[in-house]
Amino acid sequence: MRSSGSLLVDNIGELVTNAPGAEGDPLGLRRDAALLIEDGEVAWIGPARYAPAADRRIDADGAAVLPGFVDSHAHLVFAGDRAAEFAARMSGEPYTGGGIRTTVGATRAASDDELRATVGRLRGEAMRQGTTTIEIKSGYGLTVADETRSLRIAAEFTEDTTFLGAHVVPAEYADRPDDYVGLVCGPMLAAAAPYARWIDVFCERGAFDVDHARAILACGQAVGLGVRVHANQLGPGPGVQLGVELGAASVDHCTHLSDADVDALAGSATVATLLPGAEFSTRSPYPDARRLLDAGVTVALATDCNPGSSYTSSMPFCIALAVREMRMTPAEAVWAATAGGAAALRRTDVGRLARGARADLIILDAPSHLHLAYRPGVPLIRQVLHNGVPQCR
Ligand code: NIG
Ligand code: FE
Repeated sequence: MRSSGSLLVDNIGELVTNAPGAEGDPLGLRRDAALLIEDGEVAWIGPARYAPAADRRIDADGAAVLPGFVDSHAHLVFAGDRAAEFAARMSGEPYTGGGIRTTVGATRAASDDELRATVGRLRGEAMRQGTTTIEIKSGYGLTVADETRSLRIAAEFTEDTTFLGAHVVPAEYADRPDDYVGLVCGPMLAAAAPYARWIDVFCERGAFDVDHARAILACGQAVGLGVRVHANQLGPGPGVQLGVELGAASVDHCTHLSDADVDALAGSATVATLLPGAEFSTRSPYPDARRLLDAGVTVALATDCNPGSSYTSSMPFCIALAVREMRMTPAEAVWAATAGGAAALRRTDVGRLARGARADLIILDAPSHLHLAYRPGVPLIRQVLHNGVPQCR
C-alpha cells in the first residue's frame, strides 16, 4: 500500500540520509530537517523552516529519523524451533549446521498456512523493529515441491526472494550428493526460479564444496538469478573467492577470512554481509569488520534470522553487537544496516533518504542514531513508515 496525499515529517532533530557527506560523516547527517512524502516516495528534504505545506504532519519532536533497515539475509520459511539445540550450545556443544535437517523435517510436515503464519509473524516482528526491506530465503524444503512452495510463500512478503535449495544435502541423498546437485540445477531450479530473484549456496565443509557450489550458482545465473553465497562461516574456505569470481552481489558470514579473501573483496563490487546474530547464538568468534572496512570493502549487516544459528529478527540488536564486538563505529553499523543492506541487494530505492527514494523511515525514541548501540535491548523504534504509510504498532 502507498500513501495518499502529502505527509510532512518535521521537527527532526537528526536526519540520517546516507547521502555521501563530508569526510567522517558516512551517514550524511542533517540537523533540524523536515521531509515531505508524496505517492510513497520522498518528495523533498530541507531545513524545517522552509518546509512546504502538506495534507498531514508527523511531529518528530526532535528525534532522530533514519532510513528503514534493510535486512538482506533472513531464512523465515520454516516450521518448529531448535531451542534445545541452543541450550546445548550454551552448555558447550559446537554449532555444525547439522540441525538444519531437523528444521527440514518440520518444514516438510507443515501446511502452507502454517508456514505463511510463521513468515507473517517474523515479518511483523522485524517491521516493528524498523526493518522495511527484507530478503527471504528458501532452504528448509529441499524437494522440488517444498522449495517451490517456500519461495511462493516468501514472494507474498518480499520482492527479494532467494532460492537456497543448496542449503545442505538432505538425508535421502546423503550417499549421492552429485544426484542432489543434479536435482537442484534441473527440476528444482526450473520450478523455483519463477518465484526467486536470487540464488544462494551454503559453501562450507559439511554442506557444498566449491565445485558443486560453482555449478549450482552458474545454473542460477543462466536463468537470470543474481548470486549470493553463504561463505567462510564455520572455517576458512573457498566461498568468498567463489562469490567474487561469479560477481556475487554479496558473500555472507565472512567470519574466517584470509588476506587473499579480503583483497579479493576489496577489488570487487561484492558486499561482505556480516551476521553477528549467528556468532552470538553459536558462541563463536565474531567477524572482524574493521579489517574489511579498512581494506575498503563494502560491509552490510543482517540478522540471518533462522531457527538454528540466529533466531533474532532485530536489526538494532545486530547493530549493537557489531559496534561492541566487531570494531565498527555506531555510524558504520547504522550505514551497514541500511545503505549496506541495499547494496547487498543491489537496490537504489531503499537504504537512503533522498528525493525519489522509497519513503521507508524510522523515527527513534532517541535524539541520535548513536542510541541504537548505546542503549542495547531498549525498544527505541517509536514509529515506522513503509512506502510512506505509518505502520501499526
Ligand atoms: O546462515 N549456515 C547456514 N545456514 C544458516 C543456519 C541454518 C540453520 O542452522 O538452520 C545460517 O547460519
Ligand atoms: Fe544464513
